[in-house]
Amino acid sequence: MTSTLPHNILSFVHYLLSQHLKSGDYVADCTAGNGNDTLFLAQRVGQTGCVWAFDIQEMAIHNTRQRLNNADLLAPVQLILDGHQNIDQYIHQPLDAVMFNLGYLPQSDKTCTTTANHSVLAMKKSLNLLRPNGLLTVVLYGGHSTGSDECLAVEALARQCKQQQVDILRYQFANRPKSAPYALIFRKISDEIVFS
Ligand SMILES: C[S@@+](CC[C@H](N)C(=O)[O-])C[C@H]1O[C@@H](n2cnc3c(N)ncnc32)[C@H](O)[C@@H]1O
Repeated sequence: MTSTLPHNILSFVHYLLSQHLKSGDYVADCTAGNGNDTLFLAQRVGQTGCVWAFDIQEMAIHNTRQRLNNADLLAPVQLILDGHQNIDQYIHQPLDAVMFNLGYLPQSDKTCTTTANHSVLAMKKSLNLLRPNGLLTVVLYGGHSTGSDECLAVEALARQCKQQQVDILRYQFANRPKSAPYALIFRKISDEIVFS
């Protein structure tokens, strides 16, 4: 018998978001990469919803466009060749969910990775854009040097969020090395978030 429990971190995040999202929702993929997460989000929100997908690499935007085209799901997606730290220049509507899948694209330029400063800034802006009950998911990889700095910075951000304003859950394998990927799930509770 196969287990229904998601067997890796990203599938857990997809599972959680698929319970949360519905057709017509507004969402952002802050790290489009090869477009797997963007496609997943587009499938959830459908033609009446909207997905804003960011990446700083032209190749990532190209690959994401192609993946969406193949699935006939390009229409609800706005592809943005810019850093997620500028998210507030593109999105002015309340969001139902925001995804971050940090690090670099596998089989690609490992120096083109997300960075602590930009990721934390983008997450703060995203938390402000979320509607109450909206989810921000982040998959973190501490196994490379930029990644471990980024984990520290995101953990510090989590500690700055008051529990009356945001719930933050951690999903992690308890019997794998500390450097293994894990996820933090932020659920916005109040209208406004003040970072202490
Ligand atoms: C782990 S990959 C994302 C994988 C992707 N979600 C997928 O489904 O294939 C991380 C991506 O973040 C992108 N990235 C790095 N810095 C960024 C930034 N400041 N803003 C947006 N994307 C960034 C990289 O170019 C890379 O494509």
